[in-house]
Amino acid sequence: MGVFSIAAVSLLFALPLLNQIHGRHSNKVETYGTNGCDLFGGNWVFDSSYPLYDATDCPFIEKQFDCQRNGRPDKDYLKYRWQPTGCNLPRFDGRDLLVRLKDKQVMFVGDSLSLNQWQSLTCMLHTSVPQAKYTLVRTGGISTFTFPSYNVSIMLFRDAFLVDIITNDKNERILELDSIESSNMWEGIDVLIFDTWHWWLHTGRKQNWDVFQEGNVTYKEMDRLVAYEKALNTWGRWVDNNVDPAKTKVFFQGVSPDHVNGSDWAEPNAKDCSGQTQPVVGPKYPGSPHPAELVLEKVLQTMSKPVYLLNITALSQLRKDGHPSVYGHGGHNDMDCTHWCLAGVPDTWNQFLYAALIQS
Ligand SMILES: *[C@@H]1O[C@H](CO)[C@@H](O)[C@H](O)[C@H]1NC(C)=O
Ligand SMILES: *[C@@H]1O[C@H](CO)[C@@H](O)[C@H](O)[C@H]1NC(C)=O
Ligand SMILES: *[C@@H]1O[C@H](CO)[C@@H](O)[C@H](O)[C@H]1NC(C)=O
Ligand SMILES: *[C@@H]1O[C@H](CO)[C@@H](O)[C@H](O)[C@H]1NC(C)=O
Repeated sequence: MGVFSIAAVSLLFALPLLNQIHGRHSNKVETYGTNGCDLFGGNWVFDSSYPLYDATDCPFIEKQFDCQRNGRPDKDYLKYRWQPTGCNLPRFDGRDLLVRLKDKQVMFVGDSLSLNQWQSLTCMLHTSVPQAKYTLVRTGGISTFTFPSYNVSIMLFRDAFLVDIITNDKNERILELDSIESSNMWEGIDVLIFDTWHWWLHTGRKQNWDVFQEGNVTYKEMDRLVAYEKALNTWGRWVDNNVDPAKTKVFFQGVSPDHVNGSDWAEPNAKDCSGQTQPVVGPKYPGSPHPAELVLEKVLQTMSKPVYLLNITALSQLRKDGHPSVYGHGGHNDMDCTHWCLAGVPDTWNQFLYAALIQS
């Protein structure tokens, strides 16, 4: 583990109080912030000091998230700050975070929602220390953003299912629900933030596997929530068997909701997120809890090692105004009500990440 001191490690990686109380067999998912306050219950409030950064100051931002540059005319969506009901989110301090992360590697592992959050964090950090030199290298499926003067790497490993997909000698693509060989890409990283959900819903041309496999049995089709739960259990076993909590802090980016059907937010005439310029008036989303969120919580509750859930589903459900719609990849043929504009909602997810990393 090298040269950094025990004190620094325990400051950064101290387990939330709850886990210390419940011990190894905690069945309470950790989502608590400072002083046991639930950071994830609250409201979006208009705050003219927002956003936290201007996307034009983030030279490496991907076009698909750069809604203003892509012509999005409204700006209110940039101005919402998450206000927890019983406390405040700590103010994001990028320089402070870099100092705390010195000599460490942070890796986002997951689908394009991981890309969204990784991109948000790299923009937040760069705009906090605009003079600090950075490098951005993409190799072998990993994008690595580094601040050499802090010796901090913020990485992204694209791995949409977390479990493995292989192609067999009959050219069949097999989604292996109980195999997680790709874990060798992230083993030993100091801070891991996982995510998977959206690809589990793909069918037809978008489905990039032919069969599911568990043990030596293959299935042409399977209930997607069941398959998701099996894969999450495989991931959870990997964490329980391989993560040393003194070295590695594990997060799960909760299920990011999309806004493709206005019925979900009691606006049945809205056929997608286009033209949405205001959040749902909170705190309660009219729709039901996200079914994938319930599966994720169930799996996390069975795990013995601490995993910090960024419980972002409900609060992001309120942000029907936060998606690129036609101001992402561009054009009306590419309506995007799944990803999020940057600056925007994932910045708040990273404020939760920061709050968890600094809590002692
Ligand atoms: C996540 O947040 C929602 C909404 O506040 C809440 O209903 C749910 O219990 C939370 N999940 C966990 C694991 O705390
Ligand atoms: C930078 O951090 C890595 C671990 O992420 C460590 O192995 C390496 O020794 C550090 N480099 C310096 C110059 O301290
Ligand atoms: C398939 O799995 C079953 C149950 O684990 C086992 O009894 C059987 O031997 C396996 N078959 C092959 C061909 O591996
Ligand atoms: C939207 O959701 C409603 C209610 O669940 C459903 O009746 C309707 O068919 C959905 N519309 C589309 C386009 O999927």
